[in-house]
Amino acid sequence: MNGSEAAGKEFRIMPLSSSDKRTILVVDDDPAVRSLIVEALRQGGEYIATEAADGKEALEALSSKLYDLVISDIHMPGINGMDLLSRIREINPAISVILITAFPSVGLSVSAMKTGAVDFITKPFRIDELLYKVNIYLREKSMLSVDGLLNKVEQEQLRDKVRRISAKGFIYDFIERLGVSNDNIFRVIADLALKVSGGEHCAILLYDRETGEFMPKFTGSVDRVPPRHTVPWPKKLLREVVEKKDGMLYNVSDPDGAASILCAPLTIRNNVFGILSLWKHRNGACFTDQDLHVILSLARRASLNLENKVLYETLYTNIAETFRALVTSIQARDQYTERHSVSVTEFVVRTAEIMECSPDDIECLKIAAMLHDIGKIAIPDHILLKPDELTGEEYAIIKTHCAIGDDILTPIALFEKERKIIRHHHENWDGSGYPDGLAGDQIPLLSRMISVADAYDAMTTNRPYRASMSPDEAITELRRFGGTQFDPQVVDAFIGSLQSTCSCRLPAIVSAPAEEKR
Ligand SMILES: [Fe+2]
Repeated sequence: MNGSEAAGKEFRIMPLSSSDKRTILVVDDDPAVRSLIVEALRQGGEYIATEAADGKEALEALSSKLYDLVISDIHMPGINGMDLLSRIREINPAISVILITAFPSVGLSVSAMKTGAVDFITKPFRIDELLYKVNIYLREKSMLSVDGLLNKVEQEQLRDKVRRISAKGFIYDFIERLGVSNDNIFRVIADLALKVSGGEHCAILLYDRETGEFMPKFTGSVDRVPPRHTVPWPKKLLREVVEKKDGMLYNVSDPDGAASILCAPLTIRNNVFGILSLWKHRNGACFTDQDLHVILSLARRASLNLENKVLYETLYTNIAETFRALVTSIQARDQYTERHSVSVTEFVVRTAEIMECSPDDIECLKIAAMLHDIGKIAIPDHILLKPDELTGEEYAIIKTHCAIGDDILTPIALFEKERKIIRHHHENWDGSGYPDGLAGDQIPLLSRMISVADAYDAMTTNRPYRASMSPDEAITELRRFGGTQFDPQVVDAFIGSLQSTCSCRLPAIVSAPAEEKR
């Protein structure tokens, strides 16, 4: 029986037990979690809580008694929580179901919501959060019940209401879990919007108040639909959304056929800073008012997180630009440092891609590599620019640039990770480096990557005190000092990145020193 068939039958929604207490069935194969929930429900004295150890026991309990609410784990042997939810929808769609899982995903949540779960809770959870949700859903039911018997219209109203509350719950939980430092925040919000609305394409467009233009920050499509980066978002509609600060539904014709478009504003303190837009072919049916309602809820919840993200990115970019300018200012004294910083950044990003570093790490490397020698700003000209070999004393002063770089960045909380990488970019794999003599895995991986790129670029560049090596000779040096000066795995990845970007011929081993003293 599907949802519409179920809607054709009348059913009792309230328990109508003699005590008039709400009845709740708790299903979980973990006895500890089960008893924790049951005890908490019983403590308030408002609910009659019953336990079931799995889906089979739950169905037996449901066949012999009316329940107002089922709280069920998803991952259980035999009949799992999702199967149980489907069976409950068939038996009595008026029973509210809250699902619990330790393994949440957008797909699973949306699938649970679409099957009819009213909420989706992630383990570990706070018991008071669960009690709060139980209270909300049971109270909502009481408000919608009339003498315990609902007609078809009321059943539909109830279902609609529950769907809305449920969608808001899912959206709230997901957005809360995103945080602000997650680089995937735009993707996750777009993914969630596509799934809850049934749209085919989604874009998060940032609005530039000065130019009145919309800049796509993220575009995404559902799996079965090929990506389409040129969705014709009608500017007239977008501007109307900005003006009215409200969501809009629009059915439009485009060269590829009729489309249905849904837009919701993203706002900061009542100012529109972007638009969450969804698009689908009208032969897949138009968006509905309910879709608009859900997407507006999502846009409101997402606004705060996106605001923080946008502000964070702006602040981060501004500070990074300031420090880049500082590096450029070193160029006035030492042209090598600025060109070297750009080269090292390019090398190290390619190495990070070969080593499959996370997008967060790659972003961090871009800043750390660009600024790795920023401490040289404090090194006196007569040492930094000396055309001859350095004395031991002068070399000791040069070596302080790592700790100075760390000090310069210390006040910037946003660069916590970058400054550690900068501090350790002259540590050696065998512990013979500076400033702290760290060895092996003690040295941050990103520092080890900069160390290799730094040495390669230094060796292949002409300096006043020595001629440059050829790429082949420099690669040989890296291999020769892999395991002593350099992390051998990073050396392999670095050489791999050179091979993938140019047709470098890899040479046989020849001997030469790899020391990069500056
Ligand atoms: Fe350095």
